[in-house]
Amino acid sequence: MRPNVTAFFDDATNTVSYIVKDPEGSACAIVDSVLDFDYASGRTDTRSADALIAHVTRNNLRVEWILETHVHADHLSAAPYLQERLGGQIGIGDRITVVQDTFGKVFNEGTEFERDGSQFDKLFVEGDAFMIGQLRGEVLHTPGHTPACLTYVIGDAAFVGDTLFMPDFGSARCDFPGGSSQDLYDSVQKILALPDKTRIFVGHDYKAPGRDSYAWESTVGEQKAKNIHLGAGRSKEDFVAMRDARDETLAMPKLIVPSLQVNMRAGQMPPADEQGDVFLKVPVNKL
Ligand SMILES: [Fe+2]
Repeated sequence: MRPNVTAFFDDATNTVSYIVKDPEGSACAIVDSVLDFDYASGRTDTRSADALIAHVTRNNLRVEWILETHVHADHLSAAPYLQERLGGQIGIGDRITVVQDTFGKVFNEGTEFERDGSQFDKLFVEGDAFMIGQLRGEVLHTPGHTPACLTYVIGDAAFVGDTLFMPDFGSARCDFPGGSSQDLYDSVQKILALPDKTRIFVGHDYKAPGRDSYAWESTVGEQKAKNIHLGAGRSKEDFVAMRDARDETLAMPKLIVPSLQVNMRAGQMPPADEQGDVFLKVPVNKL
């Protein structure tokens, strides 16, 4: 089955969010939503999320799933905001518990921060199937960028999050806590084992040398032939050496500190204090 896929690009964080619709009905899923956040002022904005809501409302869609490919380190998820207005279950990979454990420590969260993934409605494991109306989705566990990363294969479309990027950009970084370039290589082999015509929708785009517009859709066949990091039968040894060397040169994403604290809570802010005010922490010399 070939789902209708609508992409929403967020310039501020280079994130692509998707609405994936059952071609034979009104059911849909939202993949990797964005809550806008201005770090300098500490203010959130719902512009990006409201664009998703407008699309759902205008087309009379029924949201069944609000899916996260992983705990993002570069933007905040709008999952709770969307769920309140549109319904749907919030899903992520069950290895979220590993991520919660790691960052629960980094942010010195107290015992009230549960590390069991219970903030989410559904914890997926490799091989799980789920339905969006008549449209069938399947889950691949594709760790490497983070230990909990998933790829959602929905009909002929794969939402790969931060694993592969566009063929001319390559792959996602693997240097966050719990990341592994070896694991990413193995995960990408799973994605590339899908049929060549499978559409690949990436989680981010940053343009690329010689390409001046944003892009987010390719196919397994194109990735196999042309991905500059992982195509043309690149060996694991080569990839790992290249990826690790490159990761050493990369700066932390601008929004990593707020993003992790919010996204490990399924997009909820930390609990308010006695006055009802909400604060995020900045760990010093820890990331
Ligand atoms: Fe990411």
